[in-house]
Amino acid sequence: MTTPTPLQLYIETYGCQMNVNDSEVVAAVMREHGYATCSAAENADLALINTCSIRENAELRVWGRLTELRALKRKNPRLLLGVIGCMAERLKEKLLEQEQAVDLVVGPDAYRELPNLVSMAKAGQKGVNVELSREETYAEIAPVRYGGNGISAFVSIMRGCNNACSYCVVPYTRGAERSRDAQSILSEVQLLIDSGYKEVTLLGQNVNSYKVYADDGKTVACSFAQLLEKVALLSPEMRVRFSTSHPKDISDELLHVMAKRRNICKNIHLPAQSGSTRILELMNRKYTREDYLERIAAIRRILPTCSISTDLIAGFCTETEDDHQQTLSLMREVGYDFAFMFMYSERPNTKAARRYKDDVPEEVKARRLSEIIALQGELSLKSKLPYVGKPVEALAEGFSKKSKEQLFGRTSQNMVVVFPQGNHNAGDYLTVVPTRCTPATLIAEA
Ligand code: 5AD
Ligand code: SF4
Repeated sequence: MTTPTPLQLYIETYGCQMNVNDSEVVAAVMREHGYATCSAAENADLALINTCSIRENAELRVWGRLTELRALKRKNPRLLLGVIGCMAERLKEKLLEQEQAVDLVVGPDAYRELPNLVSMAKAGQKGVNVELSREETYAEIAPVRYGGNGISAFVSIMRGCNNACSYCVVPYTRGAERSRDAQSILSEVQLLIDSGYKEVTLLGQNVNSYKVYADDGKTVACSFAQLLEKVALLSPEMRVRFSTSHPKDISDELLHVMAKRRNICKNIHLPAQSGSTRILELMNRKYTREDYLERIAAIRRILPTCSISTDLIAGFCTETEDDHQQTLSLMREVGYDFAFMFMYSERPNTKAARRYKDDVPEEVKARRLSEIIALQGELSLKSKLPYVGKPVEALAEGFSKKSKEQLFGRTSQNMVVVFPQGNHNAGDYLTVVPTRCTPATLIAEA
């Protein structure tokens, strides 16, 4: 008996790590229904774009890509084309009303429905479901790691977001916060350990508010700090990272768990967004500059070797030159190791769009962003210099982009190290001595 040739599924992913992991869930759901993943849209029976709405640019890129995929569909009318993820949620009507609309529009909580929706689309109807859920966590679905390196993997521990940052579209596209059952997280990580993985990153919009309740519905049965420790205890060979922490919720309990467990990586991503308390209030971040710095002091005290990275937004509504200077001074004061830096992009229907005027001119936003980027370049270099000439432990992840004789890996602090391959392979832990560095990389010679 011959097995039938699987149908080909092509997925293209934009946006955050959460989306990368969602695409792996989608691959798992579709595999159960006879689809194998492929790496070129030209060969696909079904092409899905997993989209991001966080900034206008992210959406513009997807619209551009959709035009190309529609052209492909004209050549191959059998190809089904779908938009999934945050843009599907936000722009369902627009995606369906276009002259050559897509066949499927599926929001982040409706991926279990995909097989049914694909059947509808095959029958010539539109397959649409953008309903958000209060419960869905895809808990028992084992993601298919089709694009990964076999060494590090993402594991979602919660979905949605209950913060109401005024600039942010996420609560509208991903719905309310819900935590995934702890046992299913531990089983998934155990499966990764058994398959030879060496690093997991626990993902959530705000991991510090992870919580599962006991049967009484009131007592917390598992907090994030407890979950993190349980995951770390599964294997000393498995590194554990997590993202993202909200400054208002990062507890000393968590920092102590990090200090206690060697395999929990010493890196905290703590988005500040701005250094001005006035702007933070307009952003509805629920902390002041001083609160933020107090949390940084706690990290430095409890975890002296921890690196700290952040997200910053330049040119939020009403931001003055003085507010901007406060962002620069916060950056210097913290001495960030790394940062993601953005110009404010107004998103329709968010609180900021409804209440405030997007009144910082584009050229001012751009200039402030370039000052932030330039300063971060200096800080990134400065934060790497102390590691030059000293042994650092790295987990090798693969060949470096520049040379097939060099491997690259990461330190616990999430710093990229490049080193000669020698007799090492991806997946090995090794100690190297960097001899020089750039703002982005530690470099070890033979
Ligand atoms: N404009 C610019 N940046 C944004 N972010 C979120 N919303 C916006 C927006 N409207 C940034 C924040 C967040 C990161 C994921 O994206 O810095 O932490
Ligand atoms: Fe983009 Fe946010 Fe959606 Fe992730 S959750 S895809 S960052 S809009």
